[in-house]
Amino acid sequence: MHTSFAGKKIVIGVTGSIAAFKVAGWVSTLAKAEARVTVIMTDSAMRFVSPLTFASLSGEKVYTDMFADGPDMSHISLGMEADLFIIAPATAHTIAKLAHGLSDNLLTTTVLAARAKVIVCPAMNGRMYSHPATQANIATLKELNYQVIDPACGTMACKDEGQGRLPEWEQVQDVFLRAVSAGDLEGQRVLVSAGPTREHIDPARFISNRSSGKMGYALARTAYRRGAEVTLVSGPTHLPCPEGVTRREVQTAEDMRTAMMEHFPAATVIIKAAAVSDFRPETTHREKVKKGQAELSLELRANPDILRELGEIKDGTRQLLVGFAAESSDLLREGKKKLLKKNLDLIAVNDITRENTGFEADTNQITLIDHQDIIELPLVSKERTADLILDRIVALLQTRENPS
Ligand code: PMT
Repeated sequence: MHTSFAGKKIVIGVTGSIAAFKVAGWVSTLAKAEARVTVIMTDSAMRFVSPLTFASLSGEKVYTDMFADGPDMSHISLGMEADLFIIAPATAHTIAKLAHGLSDNLLTTTVLAARAKVIVCPAMNGRMYSHPATQANIATLKELNYQVIDPACGTMACKDEGQGRLPEWEQVQDVFLRAVSAGDLEGQRVLVSAGPTREHIDPARFISNRSSGKMGYALARTAYRRGAEVTLVSGPTHLPCPEGVTRREVQTAEDMRTAMMEHFPAATVIIKAAAVSDFRPETTHREKVKKGQAELSLELRANPDILRELGEIKDGTRQLLVGFAAESSDLLREGKKKLLKKNLDLIAVNDITRENTGFEADTNQITLIDHQDIIELPLVSKERTADLILDRIVALLQTRENPS
């Protein structure tokens, strides 16, 4: 399953804030992703951006007036048919109205009649946002089951600094995707490890590997989109933490082991995409080793095999353990060996000798091996690969629940 906006009916309520121009960009992105976007604007929203802007970007009629359509009852039908209702930017005034169930315009009336999930994105001056009245209204919205996305911090249009900016699309898109997804990982607690580890020689040098973290981060992001509660244990990477995911940053294999052991008992699905250094220097020098010591040789000690330890302690009825194998030859044989040796439920084998698979690449080509099947996945983006791996995980969880 691929979580996407394609074919989804999304209603966006735009209220009177300068951040309305940003939402024009969101509408354009959603329309390009083949969502059907209907925009409802309040009177004050139309002072900032014209309805024609949203109509041109969405290719759909923009609704502004409760009484314009006669007996059409758009305030009922728009909300009933939507897969998702987004209010962005949401002003303090509209938030106050929603908190108290007031419905004096098309937007607030449609929200009250909506069946879809409603996500509210406040945007306003920082002092207005932190005012106890606004905060109390936001708390009420949460109690009423509206989802509220915190505004970002920074300089606002009024030149004030504070929390009140509408977040960028990159910060909200996964929250929206999660809302329209089938939620087939809802209720699952997914623990993912990603990236390399660093084994320090001295304060300046370390042993590591080429892992960028892209594969593990794609798994964490897509698992969140599909409804899971996700914890990501990450070695050093340059990647931002995916939205909605709890990240624990580690350096060494020992640190990764400690973090994995801590989060393991609560996890129901564990995916180990990290490339753990198999060895570490016997000694880490406190001072930088001087160049003069040209003959320096490094004595290495084996690191713990974290995945193998997890395989030994896993609860086979409650937990599903997934490993990766980075291989350069005999892929199937090595994968099957690791599946058994580490007591895994599934292993994703990738070829690290090709340029477009494995380390650093944006694409991957994986062979999935479990105790029933061998499935060859196509060469696709790491995000699509992550979705295909999660499809197999969902199928294995379902077989466990309903063995035939
Ligand atoms: O991060 P990217 O640039 O996107 O690259 C992705 C990747 C190539 C790193 C990823 O797809 C991958 O293959 N990860 C596993 C790399 C690896 O360490 O493979 P392995 O065959 O050496 O180890 C097998 C499994 O045991 C892995 O799940 C690994 O996390 C685990 N392991 C290995 C050694 C060790 N000491 N402890 C472990 O837990």
